[in-house]
Amino acid sequence: MDRMIDLRSDTVTKPTDEMYQAIANAKLGDDVFREDPTVNKLEEKAAQIMGKEAGLLVPSGTMGNLVSILTSCPRGTEILLGNKSHTFYYEAGGISAFGGIHSRQLNNNNDGTINLDDIKSAIRANNVHFPKTSAIVLENTHNLCNGSPLLPEYIRDVAHIAKDNDVKLHIDGARIFNAAVSLDVNVKDLVANADSVTFCLSKGLSAPIGSIICGSDKFIYNARRNRKALGGGMRQAGIIAAAGIVSLDKMIQQIHNDHENAQLLVKGISNIDGLSIDKKNIKSNILYFDINKRRTLNAELSRQTDNKDQYPIDVVQDNIYFLETSPRRFRLVTHYGISREDIENTLRMLKGLLG
Ligand SMILES: Cc1ncc(COP(=O)(O)O)c(C=O)c1O
Repeated sequence: MDRMIDLRSDTVTKPTDEMYQAIANAKLGDDVFREDPTVNKLEEKAAQIMGKEAGLLVPSGTMGNLVSILTSCPRGTEILLGNKSHTFYYEAGGISAFGGIHSRQLNNNNDGTINLDDIKSAIRANNVHFPKTSAIVLENTHNLCNGSPLLPEYIRDVAHIAKDNDVKLHIDGARIFNAAVSLDVNVKDLVANADSVTFCLSKGLSAPIGSIICGSDKFIYNARRNRKALGGGMRQAGIIAAAGIVSLDKMIQQIHNDHENAQLLVKGISNIDGLSIDKKNIKSNILYFDINKRRTLNAELSRQTDNKDQYPIDVVQDNIYFLETSPRRFRLVTHYGISREDIENTLRMLKGLLG
């Protein structure tokens, strides 16, 4: 097997042939002047799909969350977010570094939810000792929680708490289309009650670069200034947007395959002695499995993973790449670059992980 099978993340996807064509033919202008027709088209399309008034292209999901939170939350205020959320874990503390925003981490359940009572009781009373609560952030699907999709009913309940307390709701929807496909709902139903949402073009939707923030006209007007301040005002960004348009027109369908492939992995892994997997919580393209403590690892896997303290660790076995995310816990992510045959090869490789 010569081809590398890369299951580390759906961020490794390469542009499709159609994306390369669209990039080559893109009509361009200066997007900081709002004169790039391809960016304008992508932002309008995204807003329409999300059921929001406006959209804003940003270079990454991290910047999308940062710009959104900076736009909703004044300095010195506090936001509520999950203790396993991407924004808390993996975004380099940007909200506090650049926004002076205090974060309060609430327990994330295995399905990515935060208990409603925990949210209610974490909202600060009006007392001079406390920071004001300015926003709640949910993640859908939830990366570290088995790629779990959050249900529209749950999001609505959180939104009610937010509204009752005059607090904004932001959704980190890096993989919101995975959630919509998994739950078989319209993506609008997942964001209808949110003030802002960020979603990524460069994950399951296979574009090389880019995320979009959607919200009201006023929100996006303010977000545009914050994007500029962070250096995210790009010029002939139609180069990026052209691929993003193909993502929205053609690649949502691909997510169905990715979820089917993930389920084949789940089924196969649950039949491998010595591996364990939380079958019922895996509903999208991300899965985690564990190697039971008492089992020995094959020599190559031991060499790659023993005595390491920095996670995640890249692991390669039989030319198949995946991640160890904590000791003996591994992550596989399906995406456009992964075929049915790759899944079969992966299951064959996984059977050989134990010594
Ligand atoms: C849930 C979630 N939010 C945000 C991001 C950040 O996206 P980016 O890597 O484009 O900054 C990621 C990236 O994997 C993610 O998984």
